[in-house]
Amino acid sequence: MSTPANQDPRLDQAAASDESLLAAHEKLLGKQPDEKARYKLLPLNLLFVFSGLIFFAGTYLNRYSGNFDPHIFNENAHPTTGEVAVAKVDPLVLGKKQYDAICITCHQATGMGLPGAFPPLAGSEWVNGSDERLIRIVVYGVTGPLTVKGTTYAAAPMPTVGKVAGSAYNLSDDKVAAVLTYIRHEWGNNGPAITTEQVAAIRGKEGDRKPYVQEELLKLP
Ligand code: HEC
Repeated sequence: MSTPANQDPRLDQAAASDESLLAAHEKLLGKQPDEKARYKLLPLNLLFVFSGLIFFAGTYLNRYSGNFDPHIFNENAHPTTGEVAVAKVDPLVLGKKQYDAICITCHQATGMGLPGAFPPLAGSEWVNGSDERLIRIVVYGVTGPLTVKGTTYAAAPMPTVGKVAGSAYNLSDDKVAAVLTYIRHEWGNNGPAITTEQVAAIRGKEGDRKPYVQEELLKLP
C-alpha cells in the first residue's frame, strides 16, 4: 500500500504556476528592509553630545597632560614653570658683598666711619631704629646735616644707592635689603632683618625722588 503520487502535498506546491511564484517572491522582496535605511544620519542630539565630549577631552588633555612629559607625577604641575630650584642666598653673605663693594669706602670695615666726615653705623640710632627711615636713607641718600650718636655730620652727602633715578649704584631691592640686614647684624648692632618686600614697598611708594634731609626723615614713623 503505497500513497498515490498525486496525494503528496509537495506536489500541490510544485503545481503553482511560474507567475504565482514570481508574484510571491516579489511580495517577499517588497518586505525586505530598504538597504539605504541602515545609513540613517546620526541623531542631532547625539552629535552634540559627542562634540561636547571631544571638546571636553581636548580641554582636559590640554590642561592635565603635562605636555605628555613621562616624568610628570603631579598633574597640576607645569613642566616648564614648575619647581625650579632657587638657590637660597644668605642675606648676610650677599649683604657683606655689597658692603665691601660700596659702603666700606666711607663707613669703614669697622663700621665706625671717619670722624668729621662719615658717620658710624656701629651703634647708630638710624641703623638700629626705624625701618622706614633706614631703608629711605640707603635707597635715596641723604643731604645736609645729619646727627648720629650726638655728632652732626655735614661734610658729605650719603649717596643714592637704590634702583632709582640719579642713583650712583642702582642696587636691586634684594641687595639693599641684604646690606641693611648685614649692617644691623655687625659691630654689635642687633636689629631685625630687612626684607626685599619692605624695600620694594617703599620704592614703589616714593618712586623717583631726591635725597632726604634729616627733617623729612624724622617725620617718618
Ligand atoms: C661716599 C661715601 C658714602 C658711601 C659710599 C656710603 N655712605 Fe652712608 N653715609 C655717608 C655720609 C656722608 C652720611 C651722612 C649724610 C649726611 O650727613 O647728610 C651717611 C649716612 C649713612 C647712614 C645714616 C647715618 C648713620 O651713620 O647711621 C646710614 C645708615 C648709611 N649711611 C648707610 C650706608 C650704607 C649701607 C652704604 C652702602 C650701601 C653707605 N652708607 C654708603 C657716606 C657714605
